Amino acid sequence: LKIQDYRPQPFTDFTRPENVQAYQEALKKVRAELVGKHYPLIIDGERVDTAEKLTSLNPCDTSEVVGTTAKATVKDAQRALDGAWAAFESWKKWDMDARARILLKAAAILKRRRLEACALMSIEVGKNYAEADVEVAEAIDFLEYYARSAMKYAGFGAAETTWFEGEENGLMYLPLGVGVSISPWNFPCAIFIGMAAAPIVAGNCVIAKPAEDSGLIAGFMVDVMLEAGLPAGVLQFLPGVGKEVGEYLTTHARTRFITFTGSRAVGLHINEVAARTMPGQKWIKKVILELGGKDALIVDETADLDVAVTAAVQGAFGFNGQKCSAMSRLIVVDEVYDTVVGQFVERARGLQLGTGEENANVTAVVNQMSFDKISGYLDLAPQEGKVLLGGEAPGEANGKTGYYIQPTVVGDVDAHARLAQEEIFGPVVSVLRARDWAHALEIANATEYGLTGGVISNRRERLEQARFEFEAGNLYFNRKITGAIVGVQPFGGYYMSGTDSKAGGPDYLANFLQLKTVTERW
Ligand code: NAD
Ligand code: ALA
Repeated sequence: LKIQDYRPQPFTDFTRPENVQAYQEALKKVRAELVGKHYPLIIDGERVDTAEKLTSLNPCDTSEVVGTTAKATVKDAQRALDGAWAAFESWKKWDMDARARILLKAAAILKRRRLEACALMSIEVGKNYAEADVEVAEAIDFLEYYARSAMKYAGFGAAETTWFEGEENGLMYLPLGVGVSISPWNFPCAIFIGMAAAPIVAGNCVIAKPAEDSGLIAGFMVDVMLEAGLPAGVLQFLPGVGKEVGEYLTTHARTRFITFTGSRAVGLHINEVAARTMPGQKWIKKVILELGGKDALIVDETADLDVAVTAAVQGAFGFNGQKCSAMSRLIVVDEVYDTVVGQFVERARGLQLGTGEENANVTAVVNQMSFDKISGYLDLAPQEGKVLLGGEAPGEANGKTGYYIQPTVVGDVDAHARLAQEEIFGPVVSVLRARDWAHALEIANATEYGLTGGVISNRRERLEQARFEFEAGNLYFNRKITGAIVGVQPFGGYYMSGTDSKAGGPDYLANFLQLKTVTERW
């Protein structure tokens, strides 16, 4: 490939009125052209409709249907699987650079349609402008980054081996075959496309099953890939219900790999069922899991208070806390607890609740199930701590009915309370009081998760200790704990947060390749 080195996309500055205006124009365009649209399945390049449909609602105004997608049956899933294996026969023989060019072309198309993709997410999942913008930037980055990473796996001898007299020895990377990619609604553009593009550029074919709440932006992204020239059958678009088509494909004998991002419960279930060998199955399925978190930020007595409060507010309430990386535990050393928590609550009090389209700081959570689940934690909050802010689920904002939850801060939560252990996935923060630094680190590690974490401190030896001992796949010092950038902060957790596969990292594509050693004696 004759291209410049990878550089992440810059973010849009929405303090500039012209950028806000452009966003609002894009919202109008999307309302005129994409809202109300129906996305059928795409199998072997053909658009296939189904008797039943999945409906996408605007979470910020539940009276509005944003659009619909087809709802795949297991028969459709079987057809997608057969078609993908047929497509694999030729796709696996493409040159790596030819496959990479399709990702680069898709990135170019998405750059041109960046604002449309953003606006669609504002309406479909309630992202505000900055949250949607960083996500589309991430989607472009995944395409650009994986296109370049693919080069290092191309050809015989791509991985180093030692020379041996009288022989030629070499390692080659080969694609696995057909896999299923099952993605969540919270990064419905970036994670959806990243999890499909990586295996595809490595020579695999993928059946992509988006989340039920975000089928439109997924359909939009598949159209981008097809416009970029992806051959029929390489990316099968299969919106449907997880428990139906997801389950069918994860347990199927002919599924070679599963790449899943979503909740811990579903991820562990997939891990279990995928481990069972089905009749006729001739491989051990490869399972890549990116799951939830209960991510903590520690603030010690040496911290810069402004840095601490900004990091806490951004990490907790960006996209309403609906990020696996969100700061859901704020651990503050006793000496500065009252000051830090007081300022944190005051800053959070300034956040306005409203729609993604009006660019509110905190918007509605994604669906009724989330709303009910988070409301349950709000009911528990007064028993497990002191509600310092919010605590209500009003279900409306600015005259719109939607899944609105107030930004909520609960103080003096015990490290072992449910509020401090379970992923809430909403704008609810538990604050925990630590006796000192050592206690704070002990609390931070006292969950089964290990996704993101952070420390705000000016004490060098503490940062160095945390570097090794804070149990998190992504650890941040003196900044927020969300917003990993592709190639810059390879992303993924360990323990119950996943298989530490590091999306946007230098070895991510290796998850979708198998190595073969070939020796020829002369
Ligand atoms: P979810 O687990 O409910 O759903 C994820 C996907 O799994 C959906 O497409 C769903 O249809 C499918 N699914 C459900 N049941 C299935 C089954 N039995 N078999 C196969 N597929 C099935 O998760 P969600 O609510 O969409 O997403 C939120 C979760 O995702 C949170 O826990 C969050 O922390 C996690 N997440 C993790 C990362 C990460 O990188 N670690 C990133 C984003 C989100
Ligand atoms: N990759 C996303 C973040 O870092 C989840 O916030």
